[in-house]
Amino acid sequence: MKRRLFIAGNWKLNKTAAETTETVADLKAKLADFNGSLDVALFPPFLSIAAGQAAAAGSPIGIGAQNVHFAESGAYTGELSAAMLKEAGIELVIIGHSERRQYFGETNETVNLRTKAALAAGIKPFVCIGETLEEREGGNMESVLKAQIVEGFADITAEQMTNLVVAYEPVWAIGTGVTASPEQAQDTHAYIRSEFAALYGQEVADKVIIQYGGSVKPANVAELMSCEDIDGALVGGASLKADDFSALILNAAALS
Ligand code: PGA
Repeated sequence: MKRRLFIAGNWKLNKTAAETTETVADLKAKLADFNGSLDVALFPPFLSIAAGQAAAAGSPIGIGAQNVHFAESGAYTGELSAAMLKEAGIELVIIGHSERRQYFGETNETVNLRTKAALAAGIKPFVCIGETLEEREGGNMESVLKAQIVEGFADITAEQMTNLVVAYEPVWAIGTGVTASPEQAQDTHAYIRSEFAALYGQEVADKVIIQYGGSVKPANVAELMSCEDIDGALVGGASLKADDFSALILNAAALS
């Protein structure tokens, strides 16, 4: 049986609190007939989260954060701890997005530390992995993904694996309009699941939610979500407008 799909929108550095209120209210209205067959979340910028939570109240839309630091406190200017997120009612967090890895020096090791801090605080991490075009074309895709898994998930228990989400986002498909074909995505998801099976056993690996991310749109979501090992989507551009994101969610929900 297929795992429950999780469709999430990563807003990146977009939307003020006022814009968040408007878009979430619009999305909530457009999801009035949603059948509840999958999980939905949005990840606004930190300062827009409270507005998102207020606007999403009473709806199926979860509101999460785009990052969390691993230290409990200390000299880490500009960062927020897991306890601070939890206190603000945040129960979902993206960790290790490729933009964090590319522009902010995030490594498999810091991804691992942040993931463990989130889990310890009772926050569900959405841990991002994915290869660049250069790595794929150079024949290094599997070794890059394997290192991201082995190092990024070090010390994570089998039980914790069923309480987090893995987001596979080929870097070459993010914001480019180029989507991995369903076959390419399915093959890579199956490979990722096999690496989790090697670490945790097949029974645990079969429970791990693996989202696909990279130019997911209303028009291609159904085909991607129909693939056996694809359990949801992490959506950037197409999550910014309530029209697009509601259509994307309802197209995925129609599958189950
Ligand atoms: P995109 O972004 O949907 O705009 O390609 C995906 C992501 O970066 O999470």
